[in-house]
Amino acid sequence: MPLCDGLSKVMQNCSGWVNNLCFMKQSLFSVVPLSKSHIRDGFYSGSEALDRYFSSQVGQDIKRNITKCFVAIDNDKQKIAGYYTLSAAQIPLPGLPGEIARKLPRYDAVPASRIGRLAVDRHYQGKRIGSALLADALLRSSNSSMAVYALLVEAKDEQAEAFYLRYGFIPCISLLHTLFLPLKTISKI
Ligand SMILES: CC(C)(COP(=O)(O)OP(=O)(O)OC[C@H]1O[C@@H](n2cnc3c(N)ncnc32)[C@H](O)[C@@H]1OP(=O)(O)O)[C@@H](O)C(=O)NCCC(=O)NCCS
Repeated sequence: MPLCDGLSKVMQNCSGWVNNLCFMKQSLFSVVPLSKSHIRDGFYSGSEALDRYFSSQVGQDIKRNITKCFVAIDNDKQKIAGYYTLSAAQIPLPGLPGEIARKLPRYDAVPASRIGRLAVDRHYQGKRIGSALLADALLRSSNSSMAVYALLVEAKDEQAEAFYLRYGFIPCISLLHTLFLPLKTISKI
């Protein structure tokens, strides 16, 4: 797909995410930082690694400032419907496609925020929670007081990669299952 078509698709899709997020905020769900009062037991996304990380490790990573974690809460049932982790990152310039890298200054890397993990509980999959969590990560990244060039995602496998590709994420060169979305794209919405 030509780059400009790809970008216009991203913008349309981003509008959709923002709508999803507004829908979540107005009614059934809220997205908030994970806290000790949230009950993490029983979260089951179908990915053993993502579930294990959420039940036993994320608290330590938050405490050590390695990551932040945000959860979508089902306001009615007070249950965690999904989560994602967000941390600071950088993308080495050679990891970006040539037509994008050419327009950037010749630094070794550009600043990014990274979704290290994203998972939705089985009971809530297919209800737009995953795309709304992506929208939340994009908004938090673009509202950051630090400069963030792009949101980076590490997909756990090809199937997860397909989820990000449909929202216009661009694969990094030579970084397996790693994709990025320039934040400039959403600032135009
Ligand atoms: C992948 C995942 C996060 C998607 O969350 P979700 O809330 O079920 O997805 P949404 O309802 O927001 O889906 C939005 C769109 O993406 C599509 N989609 C969902 N999962 C997809 C996948 N794995 N591949 C391709 N497309 C996918 C949906 O069909 C929907 O398409 P539509 O707009 O045409 O209806 C969730 O299924 C999950 O947690 N899976 C297990 C863990 C995982 O794979 N994490 C991925 C990140 S490492």
